[in-house]
This record gives sequence, structure tokens and C-alpha cells, in this order.
Amino acid sequence: MKEHVRGAQHVERLGGSKLFVEPPVRFNGRTALRSDTYVGAYTSFGRDGEVQDARIGRYCEIAPGVLLGATGHPLDWLSVSSFQYKKASWGWHPSAVDSEVVDPEKGGRASFRGTTATIGNDVWIGANVVILSGVTIGDGAVLAAGSVVTSDVPPYAIVGGAPAKVIRQRVPDDVRDELLGLRWWRFSPNQLSGIPFDDQPAAIAELRTRVASLEPYEPGFVEIVKPPPAKKRRRLFG
Ligand SMILES: CC(C)(COP(=O)(O)OP(=O)(O)OC[C@H]1O[C@@H](n2cnc3c(N)ncnc32)[C@H](O)[C@@H]1OP(=O)(O)O)[C@@H](O)C(=O)NCCC(=O)NCCS
Repeated sequence: MKEHVRGAQHVERLGGSKLFVEPPVRFNGRTALRSDTYVGAYTSFGRDGEVQDARIGRYCEIAPGVLLGATGHPLDWLSVSSFQYKKASWGWHPSAVDSEVVDPEKGGRASFRGTTATIGNDVWIGANVVILSGVTIGDGAVLAAGSVVTSDVPPYAIVGGAPAKVIRQRVPDDVRDELLGLRWWRFSPNQLSGIPFDDQPAAIAELRTRVASLEPYEPGFVEIVKPPPAKKRRRLFG
């Protein structure tokens, strides 16, 4: 079988959530998913992260301890507690088994849970960053360590702080526009081989000559199911 994901055994799927990847993807340590999650190719996750509700692009570097697409609790209900809307939270205990819950999306109202956060391509998410639900992170953006990202981040902006604000641009505007036009992340590392990555102008010049003749790498998304537990080896003696 082809290996689509490195570290799939570290992924914890909560509440029946599913993982879909555009292979290959890496998980370098425990990562919890709380909703169906799509991850683009060549994206790498650090340990101890949680995806609550996010769709993630290609070639992203995700540091340890992040929270992506942080969902909400009701601020204008009786309580913030999930006992009001999620039977599974407490219905397992005799004291809550007869409780009734209210559907947060009743009558088509917008849920306090928010919407999916969208993370572009070539995004570096620093350690312990929190990205709130519904936020869009542009291609090429950098989120400084410890940021709390409460609003959309433009492409190739470096943001930091709580709430995150633009620190500076990663590249000049004309370079940003060229990179967004080239969309080099459509291609695989094999196809990008030989590009002088450490010389940005030369890399862009080389990409300009190559992209028209390259077929985008489109492996499609595959679901990564929980690997079966490792078989216990039978002891032959003693
Ligand atoms: C954002 C980052 C990439 C540095 O970018 P930079 O442009 O070189 O930043 P500088 O160090 O020159 O700092 C520029 C400004 O941003 C501020 N800044 C830097 N990091 C910051 C952070 N995490 N939060 C808030 N502000 C930050 C600096 O204080 C400085 O502000 P000033 O101009 O008022 O003095 C780096 O600070 C960072 O957070 N890296 C992530 C590291 C990480 O999480 N690694 C995990 C392994 S993947």
C-alpha cells in the first residue's frame, strides 16, 4: 500500500470526525480532530495540536500546540455550558439522562459554533497559535508564535500578538502578486526540483519559465482511517 501519511497513528478523531488528506501529509505528534478535516499535500503538523474546524492548504508548517478554527460557546444563552445543546456531553450520567437540549441551529439560525477557518498554502503557523473559527489565512502568511488570530490575514502578511496584527509583509507587494499568480504550490517537490529556492528572484524567474509546461500535481483527497492496533506478538516460550 502506498504511504499517504507519516504519523497517522498520532491522529485522534473525536466525535466520529474524519481525516481527508491530499497525500503526502505528516503528523509529528498527537493531533486531535473535532470535525471532518481536509489537509493539503506537503503540510506538516507539530505535536499537541487540535483542529476544531479548519481546512488547511498545501506546504504549511504547523508548529506544536496550535488550535485551528476554535469554535464557540453561547454568549447570550442562559449559560456557556454544552449541557444546554449537546446531549453527549452529560447525558451519560444519571443526573442528566432525562435532560432536554436545544438545537443551536434551530430554525436556520447561525450557530455560535461559527464556521470553518480556511488556511491557505505555504502558511507558517507558529507555536501555540489560536485561529478562531471562520477566519481566512491568506497564502504565504506567517502567524507569529502565541498569536490569537481573530480576523482574516492577507496573503504574505506576518502577523503577531493577541489579537494578531500585521507586523510586516513577508515580501514586497510586487513579489507577493507574482507568487500569487504563479501558485507554485500546485506542483510537487519533484516538479520543483532544481529551482534555486534560496534565491527568491532567481526562483521566481525559473518558475515563470516552467509553470506553463507543468501539469499540476492533483492526487485528490483520500480518507485516512484509524490504523488498526499493532498485533501483539505471540510468545512462543514461557
Ligand atoms: C514572526 C517571527 C517569524 C519573526 O518575524 P520577524 O519579522 O523576523 O520579526 P522580528 O523578530 O524582527 O520582530 C518584528 C516585530 O514583531 C514582534 N514580534 C516578533 N515575534 C512576535 C510574536 N510571537 N508575537 C508578537 N509580536 C512578535 C517583535 O517584537 C517586533 O516588534 P517591534 O518592531 O515593535 O520591536 C517569529 O517571531 C516567530 O514567531 N516565529 C515562530 C517560531 C515558532 O513558533 N517556531 C516553532 C517551530 S515551527
